[in-house]
Amino acid sequence: MPNLIITGGTRGIGRAVVELFLKEGWNVCTCARKEEALKGLKEELKNPKNLYVKVCDVGDKNSAKAFVEFCKEKLGNFDLLINNASILGERESIENYPEDVWEEVIRINLNGVFYITKYAIPYMKEGGVIINMSSGAGKRSAPYWGAYAVSKFGVEGFSLLLSEELKGKKIKVYALNPGATRTQMRAKAYPREDPLTVKPPEKVAEFILLLLKKLPQVVSVDWEG
Ligand SMILES: NC(=O)c1ccc[n+]([C@@H]2O[C@H](COP(=O)([O-])OP(=O)(O)OC[C@H]3O[C@@H](n4cnc5c(N)ncnc54)[C@H](OP(=O)(O)O)[C@@H]3O)[C@@H](O)[C@H]2O)c1
Repeated sequence: MPNLIITGGTRGIGRAVVELFLKEGWNVCTCARKEEALKGLKEELKNPKNLYVKVCDVGDKNSAKAFVEFCKEKLGNFDLLINNASILGERESIENYPEDVWEEVIRINLNGVFYITKYAIPYMKEGGVIINMSSGAGKRSAPYWGAYAVSKFGVEGFSLLLSEELKGKKIKVYALNPGATRTQMRAKAYPREDPLTVKPPEKVAEFILLLLKKLPQVVSVDWEG
């Protein structure tokens, strides 16, 4: 059975991926900051044997390292790494953007992707895949998206250089913009939007499965669903 390590698997897109890949027979290892949510995930899915969870803050390098080592211990080497965890921060102008929120968003959304990836690379199988969740705000000018947009531009750049660096190991790297998706993060970004007008996270999970069956030639994948 193939092995998946995915950050932020307790809700939204991460959770939909966890559920679908478990159903497809994968071994899955995931994390989040809230222990209760991880316990809830396991209970709601009826404690599958092939699901492993650990509390982790991806933006903390010691926590990120401990999570990757835990996944290696439980799964062995990884077929797929999905850097999914991120936070929105504030919708605010640069002039008024709070410094502490800026630092927290960059710490989680960008440093977190670096730490998890750096520690996971030695355990990636040849022919493995790394998917970094990006955003339209990381590809086109997105005024008032502040640190979130800048972190996702960083994720796009990170994915481009990493894809070159890992060619020798035959590991493919993608930055995936999942497009508007019905999650807590989306509701926070667009409080007046009717959630039913955007696609559910299960669609993104299905798309990721399709992407693995036919790996694209480009690194940056833009999917509006
Ligand atoms: N939803 C959309 O429309 C949309 C559009 C474009 C891109 N995306 C991207 O898609 C990905 C998933 O988004 P989503 O909408 O599903 O978000 P979400 O509903 O807010 O879920 C985020 C997940 O990440 C975890 N997380 C947050 N910070 C973490 C940290 N420091 N360490 C470990 N886990 C952490 C959360 O759990 P805890 O809070 O317990 O840590 C939760 O499980 C993100 O990268 C997002 O930027 C989403």
